[in-house]
Order: sequence, then C-alpha cells, then structure tokens
Amino acid sequence: MILPIYLYGSPVLRVETEDFDAANYPGLQQLIADMFETMENADGVGLAAPQVGLPLRLFTVDLTPLEDEFPAGTPLKRVFINPHIYERDGEEEKMKEGCLSLPGLNEEVLRPGRIRIRYQDENLQEHDQEIEGYLARVIQHEYDHVDGIMFVDRISPLRKNLIKSKLAAFAKGKHNAAYRCKLGK
Ligand code: CO
Repeated sequence: MILPIYLYGSPVLRVETEDFDAANYPGLQQLIADMFETMENADGVGLAAPQVGLPLRLFTVDLTPLEDEFPAGTPLKRVFINPHIYERDGEEEKMKEGCLSLPGLNEEVLRPGRIRIRYQDENLQEHDQEIEGYLARVIQHEYDHVDGIMFVDRISPLRKNLIKSKLAAFAKGKHNAAYRCKLGK
C-alpha cells in the first residue's frame, strides 16, 4: 500500500526516535513492504518511518537502479532497523540532496564520506558495516530523519534564507509533488 508522505513542518519529522522492540512490533513486515512501495512510487532512494508518520527508528534504502556503480555484494536494497552510526570519517564531500518531505527542493550538503553503522535487517539479524560513497550519503540522510533532523538543517544560513518561502509553503501543506503528501499534526 502506498502511504502518504509527511511534509516538512509535520511534528513527527522532528522526533528523535529511540530503539524499539522490532520483534514484537505488530505489522512490521507489512510496514517495510509499504515503505518500499511508497519510496518506489515517489522515485525516492530512501525513506524513513517518520516520513510516513511513524516515530520509529527505521528507514529503507533502495539504490538497485544504480547497481552498476557499486561493488558486488553492496547492500543496496535494505531496511535499517534500530540503526546506529558510531563512526564517521573519510573526506567530507558536498553533494546536492533532495527529500521526499521537501518535494522539488535540492541543496548542497556537506557530509563525511565513510561511516560505520550497526543495525538489524528485516529478519532482525544484526549487522555492523563500513559503508562509503553515495550509499553512505543516502544512509546519513535517512539516519538524520530518525534523529529528527532534516537536510535543510545542514545548509548554510544564506541558502536557508533564500528558500524560506518554500519551507513556509510546505509547512502549510502546499506542494506540487506527483505523489501523495500530507501535513501531519
Ligand atoms: Co529525506
């Protein structure tokens, strides 16, 4: 089922989530399936649970359309449950990012090139991986969401001032996305 995506300005996007008991969370597999479907429908590469209105420490990533650019075995389509980035290093790089909760907006964000992350997958298997490059960037963007951070929090004050009317419009529920969005309470 395709879920509505919560727009910038929705309070759920500002919740700093905590680990949850995924083994006893009702409907977990359905939620994961719905998030992948929602992300695909909106042409997104990542989606965090707060973006569908749930303050849960969980996000999905799907970079399989770009698989030629990654070494074999890279986890390109995956759910990250109770993720924790515990190391960030590598050279900081600037890259334009977008976000399904801020439709049509793209701004440059500076992020470290390499991370180490611990998380559980959909079978609640524990993983501990070093990830770099574009996948590390997408994961850091989604990881910010489960900490209540939006990418526009990481742009320069000058840029943020230039887009302030767009941000105000999102916070009133105005957007021109081709997918279903809503402003949460
Ligand atoms: Co986002």
